[in-house]
Amino acid sequence: MAPKKIAAGNWKMNGLHSALNEASALANADIASHVRVVLCPPATLLAAMNATLGAVPEQGVQLGGQTCHTARSGAHTGDISAEMLKDAGATHVIVGHSERRTDHAESDAEVKTQATTAIDAGLVAILCIGETLQEREAGKTLEILGRQLENSLPDAADFKVLVVAYEPVWAIGTGKVATLDQIAEVHGFVRGVLVGEYGAGDGAEMSILYGGSVKPDNAAAIFATENVDGALVGGASLKAADFIKIINALAAA
Ligand code: PGA
Repeated sequence: MAPKKIAAGNWKMNGLHSALNEASALANADIASHVRVVLCPPATLLAAMNATLGAVPEQGVQLGGQTCHTARSGAHTGDISAEMLKDAGATHVIVGHSERRTDHAESDAEVKTQATTAIDAGLVAILCIGETLQEREAGKTLEILGRQLENSLPDAADFKVLVVAYEPVWAIGTGKVATLDQIAEVHGFVRGVLVGEYGAGDGAEMSILYGGSVKPDNAAAIFATENVDGALVGGASLKAADFIKIINALAAA
């Protein structure tokens, strides 16, 4: 089977309860059933957004966290566990986002444990990788991404519980998008690594998302690129009207 098409919206540290009308607009939109939509709000909105999305259950917009701790529970002030995300209604969690890696010095090894803990808790892990501009300009992109994958992919996973998101750090929130050739090269490389790691069945069926300044006007071309199975969208997911255009482009791809 072809990988599942996924449009995930990462609200980052944006969104008060007054923004729930955007989630409501999304839940009420006419979204093709073959696309999985996941909204990842800040933790403070998880429960309320779960209620908002659950009010339109047939639409099936799913909920995700933006990170989780490596431990299942314990003395970790301010942190959130995978089990808590699940308890709040989440089905997915982003791990290893470059902003977490930068702001909180998260290592590949921690990201691997987060992904493993998330899967053990019954969540789908959306594992992010990406190179910096300096690394790309030094011609080290595939080397860096290969290392990130090698050190952060969970040992045991299948296509139902693991999604990989390629997000070039220099394209996040900058308005700069990788070229289609760059995206195709990396996604083909990631596909090869996943097949090597998880086998021809699961590796071929895992969704690989692109992220970094995906907008309504560039989405269709990105989704037409080989091995691009969807997007992890930041800024453009904050407004339902924009995110719905991206979701529709994915549905049509
Ligand atoms: P952006 O963010 O779409 O605002 O560039 C993407 C992301 O960081 O997931």
